[in-house]
Amino acid sequence: MIVTVTLNPALDITYTVPELKTGRTHRPQVTAQAGGKGVNVARTLHALGRETVAVLPLGGFDGEAVRAELETARVPHHVIPISGATRRTVTVVETAAPDGLATGFNEAGPELTTEEWAEICASLGTLLETATLDGSAVLVLSGKLPRGLADTAYADLIALADSFGTPTILDTEGPALLAGLAARPAVVKPNAHELLDATGLSDSGQAVAELLQRGARAVVASHGPDGLTAHTADGSWTARPPRIEGGNPTGAGDAAVAALAIGLADGTPWPVTLADAAALSAATVLTDRAGVFDAEAYRRFKAAVTSTATSTVTVDTATATRAVTTDVATSTATETSTATETSTATETSAVTTDVETNTASETAAGTATTGAATDPAPSEAP
Ligand SMILES: Nc1ncnc2c1ncn2[C@@H]1O[C@H](COP(=O)(O)OP(=O)(O)OP(=O)(O)O)[C@@H](O)[C@H]1O
Ligand SMILES: [Mg+2]
Repeated sequence: MIVTVTLNPALDITYTVPELKTGRTHRPQVTAQAGGKGVNVARTLHALGRETVAVLPLGGFDGEAVRAELETARVPHHVIPISGATRRTVTVVETAAPDGLATGFNEAGPELTTEEWAEICASLGTLLETATLDGSAVLVLSGKLPRGLADTAYADLIALADSFGTPTILDTEGPALLAGLAARPAVVKPNAHELLDATGLSDSGQAVAELLQRGARAVVASHGPDGLTAHTADGSWTARPPRIEGGNPTGAGDAAVAALAIGLADGTPWPVTLADAAALSAATVLTDRAGVFDAEAYRRFKAAVTSTATSTVTVDTATATRAVTTDVATSTATETSTATETSTATETSAVTTDVETNTASETAAGTATTGAATDPAPSEAP
């Protein structure tokens, strides 16, 4: 069971118009779905047929709309009712602009009270206890913290999961990420910007070393179209997906986190997990909805993407000194050939061609396939 937590969920509304003109009235096409990074992770896991539950505080009219959409989509969820009103995010997509120019309006969301936070922790404790009794569990903590919580809130939840022997993946940024490291999460998944921003460093290798030094057991950094790097106790790897031009990268990181959670739950070797994360996240870029991937493209990418061993980031925790070598180009031929079963370069270019020739229509068909492949599951978790 993979339990995801989204402390500041949203009703994600997308308005599609030919062109956004300030000071004018528009008649948009409208879509609305439950949003927030942990919700995206749970939606992806559910579509893959994995047992999951999205834990989220909800309040107000939009909170009800989020709950209703999760029920319609049959994404298992556990709601903690709160007094504040769940926020909206509004994205205006302009179809006449190249690559569907998007303008966002992201509300801050409600403040959580001390009592509501205690209720969230108690509910999560019960869920994790049950999940652990049923088999291996993984906790996923995603997104920024809502107002009213201390930076150490995620550290508290990681410690709670630890008390049940459950490993945690932490996908957040800034002070909440740094404070979470002290509780030793199994994996942190910053993107390239979050990695540098949290540490205040300008070199990504040094920033990875800093996160390991501060307590992360593994750091998986995502680099947009350039893929992912994993720095773990077992070694370091890079996985590059086929490059997709003009897709929707919002939520691609959440798809990567879903794949990492599956790998952690199943005890899959890191190179395989990382390649899967690259394939699934790239297949998510092909659809216009966060938390939804192109199932057919995912199958193709999964067969093509491999991980390559890269130079390691060494952290000497005893002496607090570290030797950092992150330049992928410095990895030796021996390392590369042992971890890569087939020629990544050849495969990648083949798949890229494929992607470029299957654009908008492939996306629509793939989305439908994902929906059709979804197994029915109980809509409300215990
Ligand atoms: N244009 C692209 N082509 C192929 N794959 C992509 C592209 N953009 C992103 N990806 C895949 O998605 C992964 C995650 O992307 P990114 O680093 O942008 O995550 P993120 O900023 O955390 O995303 P979010 O927080 O919106 O979910 C990348 O590591 C890569 O595998
Ligand atoms: Mg992200």
